[in-house]
Amino acid sequence: MTDTNTLRSQALSAIEHCDSSATLEEQRVALLGKKGAITEALKTLGAADADTRKTLGATLNQIKQELAEAIDSKKAQIAAVELNARLASEKIDVTLPSRPEIRGSIHPVTQVIEEITAIFADMGFAVAEGPDIEDDAHNFDALNIPESHPARQMHDTFYLQGNGDGKTLLRTHTSPVQIRTMTGGQKDNSGPPFRFIAPGSTYRCDSDLTHTPMFHQVEGFVIDKDIHMGHLKGCLIEFLKAFFELDEVPVRFRPSFFPFTEPSAEVDIGCKRSKDELKIGAGNDWLEVLGCGMVHPNVLKNCGLDPDEWQGFAFGMGVERLAMLKYGIPDLRTFFDSDTRWLSHYGFDALNIPSLLGGL
Ligand code: PHE
Repeated sequence: MTDTNTLRSQALSAIEHCDSSATLEEQRVALLGKKGAITEALKTLGAADADTRKTLGATLNQIKQELAEAIDSKKAQIAAVELNARLASEKIDVTLPSRPEIRGSIHPVTQVIEEITAIFADMGFAVAEGPDIEDDAHNFDALNIPESHPARQMHDTFYLQGNGDGKTLLRTHTSPVQIRTMTGGQKDNSGPPFRFIAPGSTYRCDSDLTHTPMFHQVEGFVIDKDIHMGHLKGCLIEFLKAFFELDEVPVRFRPSFFPFTEPSAEVDIGCKRSKDELKIGAGNDWLEVLGCGMVHPNVLKNCGLDPDEWQGFAFGMGVERLAMLKYGIPDLRTFFDSDTRWLSHYGFDALNIPSLLGGL
């Protein structure tokens, strides 16, 4: 016969004496688990007579309930204590003056944007910016991507609720800055010619090994008279040589499609892949690094420019991708983990500002 009073008081005291989630879990299994004391006691009921079964069964179930509650409240208590201990041990005094050994560093995304900017600044490009929150007129329509266009689906857009028409979104690329700049959205700029790069954050509803919902692009575009594909190629080849710090780099322009450029191309650079190394600038393999093309006449028209008078080219590159290639960073997702160990390994010295003269 089970002495329910002793069982109850011993169990409650055992629970009360637990001082970590691990010991509490052990206690829970020892009492309520498949082979636990309460479970075993309940099993003896089958052999008992009807009266005992009734009263003892009710008591045991009541104890079971009581113990489960005691375990839950102890669990919450231990969790609070453990959290406080963790908060105390990980406490950082943000008011302390900086110490050299914990000096902050420049994130590779910032560094690479600075490097790209330095290279294009040297070629006479200004820097433009546009808002992260866009409307579909700038992100799609004006870029020759009409409502029904399959490219809209491909962009995995984050739409924002708010103004009722569902037309506000997080920009899926930096190309809307082309439109804003050409239509005079930039204060200091009244008309063509244009020669801009536009770095910034972009967003797509996509998350896996090689995609993060937020990433960065640098857009580039040139509008002037008599601009042709040769200018585009020369400009990008010069850029790639400077960026990867190589005297010669094999570059391939592969026909592609973007609604806002015609013709369009994807740009590959030559590389050599071996088991655990990727060497850029030599070898028989190719690696895609950016998209580009001649600005589509419809885009020029949408911005009030006469395509017979003005032509140009545009390109767009992924900042994280370029950073991964140049600095051998294997995993895209680590960029946004905010892990200070990662940053101190891959980050850059804040005083080392990239310049073509000083080296990138
Ligand atoms: N906006 C394109 C993208 O995000 C890249 C691009 C920009 C292609 C400019 C051509 C010209 O995929």
